[in-house]
Amino acid sequence: MRILVLGGSWFLGRALVSDALARGWTVTTFTRGRSGMPPEGAEHVRGDRRNQDDLARLVESGPWDATIDTSVYEPADVLAVLDALGTSAGKYALLSSVSAHRDWPHEPVEEDSPLWPSRVDAAETDPDIAAQSVPAQYGILKAGCELAAGTAPLGTLIFRPGVILGPGEYTGRMLSLFERAQRGGRWLLGGSPSDQIQPVDVRDVSRFVLNRIAIHDEGAYNVVAPREPERNYGALIDACLEVTGGTAELVWGEPEWLLEQGVREWTEIPLWRTPRGTWAVSGQKAADAGLHCRSLRETVADTWADFQEHPPVPHPRQAEHGMDPAREAELLEQYDLFRAR
Ligand SMILES: NC(=O)c1ccc[n+]([C@@H]2O[C@H](COP(=O)([O-])OP(=O)(O)OC[C@H]3O[C@@H](n4cnc5c(N)ncnc54)[C@H](OP(=O)(O)O)[C@@H]3O)[C@@H](O)[C@H]2O)c1
Repeated sequence: MRILVLGGSWFLGRALVSDALARGWTVTTFTRGRSGMPPEGAEHVRGDRRNQDDLARLVESGPWDATIDTSVYEPADVLAVLDALGTSAGKYALLSSVSAHRDWPHEPVEEDSPLWPSRVDAAETDPDIAAQSVPAQYGILKAGCELAAGTAPLGTLIFRPGVILGPGEYTGRMLSLFERAQRGGRWLLGGSPSDQIQPVDVRDVSRFVLNRIAIHDEGAYNVVAPREPERNYGALIDACLEVTGGTAELVWGEPEWLLEQGVREWTEIPLWRTPRGTWAVSGQKAADAGLHCRSLRETVADTWADFQEHPPVPHPRQAEHGMDPAREAELLEQYDLFRAR
């Protein structure tokens, strides 16, 4: 197989490139060169996907059997690439997100659940989109990217991952959990240790995407780990403590109380979120098609080992994650009083 990865230097893109090279595939990557370089062995074309001349230069490295798009943000980005590459792109595989589902995270969703209403010319600056919340904007633009991807001349594959974790993760989710686990003491968490969660390992996403490309598949998949009793928030935290050697007394705060105190879901307590659909995404279609998800323990242990060798590059999103220690101590004090009432 000859594939083009739009992206390839950072998280999922990097995993896809490494995996494809290990399969003996020929890989071209296309990035601006701001997020480091892709793995050795890939042909790297430096350029900006929003620059027509750069895209015209990229075509010279084709044609490809498939193009995997990990760097798309707005539908116009999809159309510009398809316009420039034409049939050279081969099958077009878009990395969308479960956020493209209109009802996520409020309701459980499956592949056929409605997407956000969107347009192939939807843009972040459109007044109706700019007026939405940031997560809704992201979802509307991803839904628009899916519409645009549908115009690919040689067919389309859509992947909608939920939260991706694993080696190379840079958003700060795992980084802040590891730092908190190492600090020890009383650790304020949300909900219950048995709350099921569905993060998917970046290597499992990569394997699934490449396997579907290899068989020239088409269609759309939600890419999340299955809902299983042992795949829960408590297991995630226990694994963080185990790999870091931290010891902590876990305090599972009642969600309503935490929300009353203004605790930010998803970030201040990473991956903790109350809407009932957050971790109720059906990935059955992908599971039936062979998506295999490793254990949370393995993902956490490998991410920790990777961080020892390759600390994540600084990223603005890292500051969003985790709770200030003084605030946590104050909240714990108030929580004890609340529970004693
Ligand atoms: N991470 C998650 O939990 C998650 C969950 C669901 C869906 N997704 C989706 O999965 C995809 C991959 O996510 P990721 O977190 O692995 O991606 P990422 O780390 O944000 O990587 C983006 C890549 O695109 C390149 N890039 C960005 N803008 C570009 C431009 N204008 N021209 C050329 N290259 C450009 C970057 O390299 P340069 O900066 O060097 O150009 C980088 O290699 C994204 O579409 C994301 O929406 C991610």
